Amino acid sequence: MSPFEQLVTAVPDFPRPGVLFRDVSPLLADAEGFARCIDALAEPWQGHGVQAVCGIESRGFIFGAALALKLGAGFVPIRKAGKLPPPVLGTDYQLEYGSDRLEVGSKALCAGERTLIIDDVLATGGTLAAARELVAQLGGELIGAAVVIELAALHGRDRWLGGTPLHALLRY
Ligand code: PRP
Ligand code: HPA
Repeated sequence: MSPFEQLVTAVPDFPRPGVLFRDVSPLLADAEGFARCIDALAEPWQGHGVQAVCGIESRGFIFGAALALKLGAGFVPIRKAGKLPPPVLGTDYQLEYGSDRLEVGSKALCAGERTLIIDDVLATGGTLAAARELVAQLGGELIGAAVVIELAALHGRDRWLGGTPLHALLRY
């Protein structure tokens, strides 16, 4: 078993009946577990010259900020609609439960900036695909993406197009 697996709990019927929710709160609360998680998230990207880490609201912020510090990169928040001041770029996307819109500051990346996207969970893949679209709109050079948890049964990885790596620490 991965050292992180026992720090992620499974909550049945949340946020609605039939969904088994993977909760990373115990992992975040465990000082050693969280530190080792950030080390493991960073490991594949060391030496790749990552300049910017784009974290997706909300739990992607927690892992993303720590990962950016670890990699010596800046942190760029990708937020739900209406949270960032203008000017912003935005894109609509489908969620496992509903639809939503992501936005990013329109000057948040420099052209060609080597960029990594991070989120806590890959489910259907719509969120990561939307984030990738925003990085492309900003002119960043996408290096890849990292997630803590991949819900493999939902096949979100199939929507990660373009050939850059997508690393997951845990797969269910
Ligand atoms: C969850 C999760 C990912 C996204 C994955 O976020 O944190 O961002 O869903 O789903 P997908 O692969 O099907 O797109 P959510 O929108 O629930 O927001 P939250 O982080 O603010 O709870
Ligand atoms: N946990 C956390 N976020 C999620 C999940 C989950 O199981 N599924 C979709 N988003």
